[in-house]
Amino acid sequence: MSNTSVVQSSDAPSARNAVRALRSSQIREVANAGFGNGDVLPFWFGESDRVTPRFIRDAASEALNSGATFYTHNLGIAPLREAIARHVSTLHGQTSVDHVAVTSAGVNALMLASQLIVEAGDRVVAVTPLWPNIVEIPKILGADVETVSLEYGPHGWRLDLDQLLAALTPSTKLLIVNSPNNPSGWVLTRDEQQTVLDHCRRHGIWVLADEVYERLYYDDVRNDACAPSFLDIASRDERVICVNSFSKAYLMTGWRLGWLVAPAALMDDLAKLIEYNTSCAPSFVQQAGIAALGDGGSTPRQLVGDLRVARDHLVQSLQALPGVDVTSPAGAMYLFFSMPGAGESLALCKALVREAGLGLAPGSAFGPEGEGYVRWCYACDVARIDAGLERLRTFLERRGRGR
Ligand SMILES: Cc1ncc(COP(=O)(O)O)c(C=O)c1O
Repeated sequence: MSNTSVVQSSDAPSARNAVRALRSSQIREVANAGFGNGDVLPFWFGESDRVTPRFIRDAASEALNSGATFYTHNLGIAPLREAIARHVSTLHGQTSVDHVAVTSAGVNALMLASQLIVEAGDRVVAVTPLWPNIVEIPKILGADVETVSLEYGPHGWRLDLDQLLAALTPSTKLLIVNSPNNPSGWVLTRDEQQTVLDHCRRHGIWVLADEVYERLYYDDVRNDACAPSFLDIASRDERVICVNSFSKAYLMTGWRLGWLVAPAALMDDLAKLIEYNTSCAPSFVQQAGIAALGDGGSTPRQLVGDLRVARDHLVQSLQALPGVDVTSPAGAMYLFFSMPGAGESLALCKALVREAGLGLAPGSAFGPEGEGYVRWCYACDVARIDAGLERLRTFLERRGRGR
């Protein structure tokens, strides 16, 4: 028998309260409802069905074969930081390497930014409906997250600017805005952005801008367009942090590579946080990132052209279905729309996957403000969208007839 004394507790082992209180993924719940049904057309996840372009994969293979298998600097290898700084400078004005850090994709960048800024008990404001990770991450750190909801009207999703400014009180630590937005496709206008930035400056509020969909922007007919960014109007050393990623614009979701643009004064502390989270992004993946940025923007340009066609086709087809209310969003790669039964979106999406083999994301996955809507990711070819539409049509007809 061991003589080591063991402290016994009557409680079962459990995680911290803040962690246990995190929401679990409702999209996952819908996907689970489809287990056993091999014939599901999935439009629920936020990624394209296209594989990463060949030249990017080749760059990673070459790097791997030449031995890029070691740790790198916490903030990323110098050539990638330089490439990102050049890329950001081209899109948004002069940006030096001192303001750039490489991260393990956007979600890690969001976590790092929150760890840099947010303390337990801090008040954080987020514009919703929103990809759930963005709202949950500050809660892991013990922050109180308050939400300001976009509103849906005849012209699509809109921000009530006065409501947002009223929520941004002097006691607010951080504002989180994701534009172009997941799930709604809403895009913050330049004027709104300027008003929000001025207000945050007055009250010393940090802005965390999630701009991972900036290249997926349709309001400008040029395919190399970019959505309005806080980087266009903010100086690099004020309280603004921008998150970006290779995942969406370069079809690199599985690679886990992204970046942060932040005040230079944060970089030493950021390097410490990266050390304790991931230490660095994988070396050969960083080499692939250099290749991705080096192609002159042809990957995002072609992607956004194809997405525009898919978006227009899906919007038109859905508008022809009875009871479906949908408008054409200005950015990202999702339609967030209402349809019969969407008042209980989780139940509807489970029924859609079970009865029709159609995988959509329930609006409630994006916060209570999203209830009444479903999200359809249209980053796939039109034939696949048509197959999904056919399933939706049949489902609605069956329901209309009371089955
Ligand atoms: C708004 C938003 N931000 C960040 C991310 C993170 O993407 P990744 O971690 O793949 O860069 C996503 C992914 O869906 C997203 O929708």
